[in-house]
Amino acid sequence: MWTRILLIQQERGTSGARAGLEGIQRALEAGLGRSEGLPRRFPPPGGTVVRIGAVPSPSAPRRKTRARPRVVAISNQKGGEGKTTTAVNLAASLAAGEHRVLLVDLDPQANASSSVGYPRGSVQAGTYELMLGGARFADVVRPTELPSLWVVPASADLAGAEVELVNLEDRETALRRALAPVLEGSDHDFVIFDCPPSLGLLTINGLVAADRVVIPMQAKYFSLEGLGALKGTIDAIRAGLNPRLRIEGIVFCMFDPRTNLAQQVVNEVREHFADAVYETMVPINIRLSESPSFGKPALLYDIESRGAQSYLQLAREVLSRMEAADEKAAAGAEAGPPAKQAEAAPEGETKAKAKPKAKPEPKPKPEPHEAPAAKKSKGAA
Ligand SMILES: Nc1ncnc2c1ncn2[C@@H]1O[C@H](COP(=O)(O)OP(=O)(O)OP(=O)(O)O)[C@@H](O)[C@H]1O
Ligand SMILES: [Mg+2]
Repeated sequence: MWTRILLIQQERGTSGARAGLEGIQRALEAGLGRSEGLPRRFPPPGGTVVRIGAVPSPSAPRRKTRARPRVVAISNQKGGEGKTTTAVNLAASLAAGEHRVLLVDLDPQANASSSVGYPRGSVQAGTYELMLGGARFADVVRPTELPSLWVVPASADLAGAEVELVNLEDRETALRRALAPVLEGSDHDFVIFDCPPSLGLLTINGLVAADRVVIPMQAKYFSLEGLGALKGTIDAIRAGLNPRLRIEGIVFCMFDPRTNLAQQVVNEVREHFADAVYETMVPINIRLSESPSFGKPALLYDIESRGAQSYLQLAREVLSRMEAADEKAAAGAEAGPPAKQAEAAPEGETKAKAKPKAKPEPKPKPEPHEAPAAKKSKGAA
């Protein structure tokens, strides 16, 4: 359940700041996501966000602390489907709910890094150095404007990683090895990988280190084509290097419900991937494409935009689906070990087949990091 709300303070007593403080009161009453009363832009003119934290809503239960983080790869080998926008805004939305989130940029384009304030070429050490250069996690992790969101950015050298990884013995598992203390530790609630648009070694490293995959896609014919290949790769990795891996969900991005084709593609994907498709569909929204150039996730740029609200909604859906799965697993554990559970179809893939079938009609042409405290006070704002 979503138990936290966003608290924002401004530095100076300007009218913008007053509006912000009044907005906090209304947000406290309304709960996160119903942001009536909050200033449209953060920071509002004349005010600077000095603290963004979270306070428990009066009746909400405290979030349970998990032993190890949920590790989610955001992947789709097709380019421009909304991976980075989803990785950044899902990570930020979870962090706004005071979950401790680590975003790892696995893409040499470094778009996720730029979107949280580390433009390409601005860091000396990042994912490449962590995987191949012997750098420690503490040396590469950076804070962001959101206090419970951290990033391992992509340094310029990541562009050479695909070639260099080939010669390594642990070429598919280098990321899992390098991140082991984080993946096995309890300092983070979520680790989110932004994968590049390929099924190369960087993506494979992400899928081997992750527990789940979230697939962003557009509701377009060519977007369907890649889904079968990605499903095949996930199955192969599950059979060999990472039996825990499963498809967590598929999210439609840049969704335009006005076209028949979009609806047909959604139906087609639902037919093959069943409940894996999230109810939340992210519409085309200009704020989502503007916010990266300001180095901000959409909720710090324009929290009332449909884009920011959609990702907050997606975060709620992701959380409630994961919590429902955990509860089901706990109930199953109490009832005794189910037969051959490891071989059972993963959550959300009950009707999944290896490949989407027929084409839909019509067919178009073609600073030093302050590490998250392991025993951080959850209620502190
Ligand atoms: N819902 C949206 N509304 C408007 N623009 C969007 C939306 N989602 C993404 N975009 C824009 O579409 C482009 C592609 O999105 P994004 O970078 O997230 O895709 P990607 O899958 O990560 O791409 P790549 O494969 O190159 O890594 C970007 O310019 C982004 O700002
Ligand atoms: Mg990207």
